[in-house]
Amino acid sequence: MKFNLFTRPLARRPLGWLSGLSAAFVVAVAVSAAPAPVPALKDVFKNDFYIGAALNESQFYETDQTEAALVKTHFSSISPENDLKWEQIHPTPGHFDFTDADRYVAFGESNKMFIIGHTLVWHSQTPSWVFEGENGQPLTREVLLARMHEHISTIVGRYRGRIKSWDVVNEVIDEDGSLRKTPWLRIIGEDYLVKAFQFAHEADPQAELYYNDYALENPGKRAGAITMIKKLRAAGVQLSGVGLQGHYKLQIPTPQEVDDTIMDFANLGLKVSFSELDVDMLPGARNSLNADVGTRMEAEKRLNPYPKELPLAEQQKLAARYADLFAVFLKHRGEIKRVTLWGVTDADSWLNDWPVVGRTSYPLLFDRAGKPKLAFMSVVAAAQKNPASALNRSSGTGTMASLADTSASNR
Ligand code: GLA
Repeated sequence: MKFNLFTRPLARRPLGWLSGLSAAFVVAVAVSAAPAPVPALKDVFKNDFYIGAALNESQFYETDQTEAALVKTHFSSISPENDLKWEQIHPTPGHFDFTDADRYVAFGESNKMFIIGHTLVWHSQTPSWVFEGENGQPLTREVLLARMHEHISTIVGRYRGRIKSWDVVNEVIDEDGSLRKTPWLRIIGEDYLVKAFQFAHEADPQAELYYNDYALENPGKRAGAITMIKKLRAAGVQLSGVGLQGHYKLQIPTPQEVDDTIMDFANLGLKVSFSELDVDMLPGARNSLNADVGTRMEAEKRLNPYPKELPLAEQQKLAARYADLFAVFLKHRGEIKRVTLWGVTDADSWLNDWPVVGRTSYPLLFDRAGKPKLAFMSVVAAAQKNPASALNRSSGTGTMASLADTSASNR
């Protein structure tokens, strides 16, 4: 069932999420009749930061035309959900498969998008052969470094000047702030991090190079990340920024924790990007910021409470949460380079299958039919509250009025 916020009498509408909207907008909503397009997110945030989405193949091959159109309309940056991960682009020794990655980059270029490379060195979605020696022998540091070098120089070199920003290392800090105990650390030693950045910098000296992770809003993990960053810099590493994945829940982290996290990294002179934003609405499965893809839980009915649609009250909570988050992002528009949603519509989200397989999740700004949700409107409203916003510099209420004709959906 579709819920159209604007077909019900104003007095009976739940207006909590509208609190951020101006009186002019509400009037415009009430009087507007003619259908008009919704504002494009990339225009709404054009004075602030890139607004991005992680893409799957159906979007950048444009086999899903609805979603491809949404991407082109709304997003100024793209990330590859899976196609540049080691297991896909370099599945067997000496064999690279660039078919999908080439198409991803071409899609971004033809639509003038800021193209992200994700990710070069990670412990997950990396084939086991990478860490194995010949004939069951343990792998030496030298051989793994050579494999890492071949991987990074081949891929970064191929897209030199085209992929503008790389997540060089992903999820390398543990919850307690120590270096994560990965095969990279065990086999090469701590300087694998320095080497990864050096190899990437050599392959494309102009590319931005990022460290990307989840749960950096937790002070202990963040302190460990800051220690690591200082060591990398002391070793001469060209680190451009930190990617905060932003796999959030409704209540955690708090806006203040997000704010503190941005400032702690910005104070080191780093750019900050929200690299994988989503808000998990589903109950119980995890109450921490853990976003380790290896975490798995048994399916239970109570963990999938909205198999058909998200009730309006939940929809409003999601909208309020996104408004709060974007208020922080906009406050720090000078520090934030990019805000990327991890997926385009709710149908695409990894949270339909993580950490419980087969749930129906609602973490993004567009519903399963590609319609903007209340959460979409609330981020636009957050931008409108910002005096420097592009919305406040263009022609009057026209853009916002067009929102009135959008069918806000709670599917
Ligand atoms: C991590 C990775 C992403 C993606 C998400 C979940 O955050 O960095 O590439 O795998 O998990 O989909």
